[in-house]
Amino acid sequence: MTGLFITFEGGDGSGKTTQSRLLTEWLTQAGHTVVHSREPGGTDLGVELREIILHRRGYIAPCAEALLYAADRAHNIATRVRPALERGDIVIQDRYLDSSVAYQGAGRVLDSAEVRELSLWAAEGLMPDLTVLLDLSAEDGRERLESSRDTYDRLEAEKSDFHERVRDSFLGLAEAEPRRFLVLAATEPIDALATAIQTRVAELLNR
Ligand code: TMP
Repeated sequence: MTGLFITFEGGDGSGKTTQSRLLTEWLTQAGHTVVHSREPGGTDLGVELREIILHRRGYIAPCAEALLYAADRAHNIATRVRPALERGDIVIQDRYLDSSVAYQGAGRVLDSAEVRELSLWAAEGLMPDLTVLLDLSAEDGRERLESSRDTYDRLEAEKSDFHERVRDSFLGLAEAEPRRFLVLAATEPIDALATAIQTRVAELLNR
């Protein structure tokens, strides 16, 4: 495959969406063809799955939740991401398999290795070329969410110890794969973060 697959990860409220949009704009202006996607919800099927996963009232068993995210991922990768990468496009995506390891593995306390294997099976082994982790404490994430909205989805509504486990898991994943990850403090100004991300992506493009 000739394209570039860049994912953004981080806790709720870490500013992933803002930064992935800024990177998309920057690359598009430089003449690249960019596909912006997200999980869950990057496809029509994914939008329906997202509604179930995030807004269904009542309990969803942790394994069922992991499988719903994996179903969204399988369809997104097969129908949008892989075709784009095969065309040579750049795919920028909000969240990917590291989110499953952090949220369903560490957060829901499923076996992280099994969750990762499930995602890799769903995505036929596709790994990102670069993963930008916007690191934020659970407390700061909560404050940001509280200032921007009145209602929370099923995952956002989890207690702070859940979100602390998610954060620690992301940091552990980044430590285990330092070449794939760019870890930035989400509390840095938006412009400074955007510049740091652009610098790293420019290096990748010049490889
Ligand atoms: P978003 O609001 O950043 O789009 O993400 C939706 C929520 O889904 C967020 O709380 C993180 C969670 N999530 C998982 O628990 N597992 C996953 O595999 C993914 C992709 C997201």
